[in-house]
Amino acid sequence: MTADAWPGAEQRGARRSSITYTVRAPLVRWLQQEAARAAADMGTYRVLDVGCGIKPYYPFFATHASEYVGVDVVPGPQVDLIGGVEHLPVGDASFDLVICTQVLEHVDDPGLAVRELRRVTAPGGRVLASTHGVQVYHPSPNDLWRWTHAGLGRLFADNGDWGSVSVQPSSGTTSCLTMLLGIYIDLILRKARLPLASRGAVWALNGLGAAVDARSATLRGVGPGTLHANYHVVAEAPSAEAPSAEAAR
Ligand SMILES: C[S@@+](CC[C@H](N)C(=O)[O-])C[C@H]1O[C@@H](n2cnc3c(N)ncnc32)[C@H](O)[C@@H]1O
Repeated sequence: MTADAWPGAEQRGARRSSITYTVRAPLVRWLQQEAARAAADMGTYRVLDVGCGIKPYYPFFATHASEYVGVDVVPGPQVDLIGGVEHLPVGDASFDLVICTQVLEHVDDPGLAVRELRRVTAPGGRVLASTHGVQVYHPSPNDLWRWTHAGLGRLFADNGDWGSVSVQPSSGTTSCLTMLLGIYIDLILRKARLPLASRGAVWALNGLGAAVDARSATLRGVGPGTLHANYHVVAEAPSAEAPSAEAAR
């Protein structure tokens, strides 16, 4: 199957008129950058996609992936293994890149989930995880958690001997607010059977949020008073030679 025909074109396309634009557009850019960085650092790599759903981001990694395995609690045509992130049905240190996008908010025990992500990551490998700061309730099949950048950093630091952990907001405060406004305007205009008006309003709000945030480092940052729709986490497993941050303490 070609990359264009692979399921998830909507997620990869991340249209500005979509209520998920604030989350998906930065996620797409970040994963593409991380796929290229991993290729530069590792050459080929083995990928585990945890909570994979339809594996929408497989095409970004396909060129350099010697293996791309999807695991999910819900069966589906793209799911290779059935299992939860808290008890992954794969061996220790068996993947170089472990992707876990928009899943942690749905799991019963996030600490156990992060320990499992660490267990399956090979020395020198990395976990790429994304999850919400602020979002409306969206069970899949549950919806249990939201984070701040500091809370997410603590979650990873407390649950694994990582070499490094970085947590970055995916977009700024204004984008978060315009996303929420767009979600409710979309709800109202769709009820009023005005889907075109909804798309126009959401397109304008998404553009406004991004434009305002682009002018302010404060709104893009993580200082007091900021609000973020989503976070991107890169957690690196120490290489075989390097001591972990925990061991070095
Ligand atoms: C919002 S979807 C995200 C799907 C995909 N990762 C993406 O970014 O488009 C959440 C996914 O996590 C899966 N999921 C929920 N709880 C899970 C768990 N405990 N372990 C593994 N996957 C889980 C759901 O079945 C669903 O496919």
